[in-house]
Amino acid sequence: MLTADPITASQLHEKLKDVKLGGTTCLYPLEKCERYVPLINRINELKAEQNAVVLAHSYVSPEIIYGVADFVGDSYGLAKDAMSTDATTIVFAAVKFMGDTAKILNPTKEVLIPSELNGCTLADSITGDDVRKLRRENPDFMFICYINTSADVKAECDVCVTSSNAYDIVERVPSDKIYFLPDKLMGFNIIEEMKTRKVDKEIKLWDGTCYVHEEYDPDMIDYLRSQHPELRVLSHPECSPGVLQHSDYVGSTSQLLNYMKDTDAETILMLTECGITSRLQVEMPHLKFVGSCSMCRYMKSNTLQDILRVLENPRPQDVISIDEGVQARALACIEAMFEYAERK
Ligand code: 13P
Ligand code: SF4
Repeated sequence: MLTADPITASQLHEKLKDVKLGGTTCLYPLEKCERYVPLINRINELKAEQNAVVLAHSYVSPEIIYGVADFVGDSYGLAKDAMSTDATTIVFAAVKFMGDTAKILNPTKEVLIPSELNGCTLADSITGDDVRKLRRENPDFMFICYINTSADVKAECDVCVTSSNAYDIVERVPSDKIYFLPDKLMGFNIIEEMKTRKVDKEIKLWDGTCYVHEEYDPDMIDYLRSQHPELRVLSHPECSPGVLQHSDYVGSTSQLLNYMKDTDAETILMLTECGITSRLQVEMPHLKFVGSCSMCRYMKSNTLQDILRVLENPRPQDVISIDEGVQARALACIEAMFEYAERK
């Protein structure tokens, strides 16, 4: 693999000068870029030496996305990117369950996770034992899990979904009794969408939520619309049904970015993690954002220092390994998603 040309601090500053994460709490002045550039250039050298790639979710910090990432996207796109790369090492700057998914799909590749906080409030809300108990109690139900789950939970489920395909997959599966887990709010949104599509399925839900998306509320949208009549409101399906009903567009993180590429909207309320706003500030700097965004502490715990550490000297806990008894069943659950998602 070729080494990327070294980047200079002024090039990085030029790229990130419009980012104003969390209002003005996180900016990219030249001095900060001077601190980042040696780390970025060393990481890019090591990637070339080790035939490694960095996959980054759009929620991680801009210096990772624009400094060292080879693939950036949503959970579905990154799972596909992990399969398409011929690199031997994948550094997954995101959250643990995304790294697990990459390893399940690519058991022979080394998957490293730099995130210090191995968590996600959705993935942490349910265990494989919980699903085994639910299955005993609900033997007639098909179990569909959100991708934000551990490998052990996926191994107990029939098919998984991401925010980009949840509605279509719930509609397409050949069962009218669905247990959807763990995201209760996404589950409520699926129930609403099935009513709109006139699909009659009984859907039971687990009681998990994403702590970032559950905070948004429709009253705040109404107030901001009264202040900015031209406002365009975009939200992620982990928000509540009330928020979705008050939104102009709902989609996965990549779908939200794609929507912005094809619209003339200029004043935006973005109801998802701040990373999407910061990507748009870099890629479409004319946009005006109102309201505040919320940060995911798990995604933002990825740092350049940690990416360098996992490439130079990974600790045992940085290297993903999947239990042998779990691997094949979790793979079947993810492969079922690809099959249903791509079926027309
Ligand atoms: P996406 O599938 O849209 O990337 O969402 C993942 C996630 O964790 C959102 O909070
Ligand atoms: Fe999990 Fe929410 Fe963070 Fe996404 S934003 S990784 S669902 S805690």
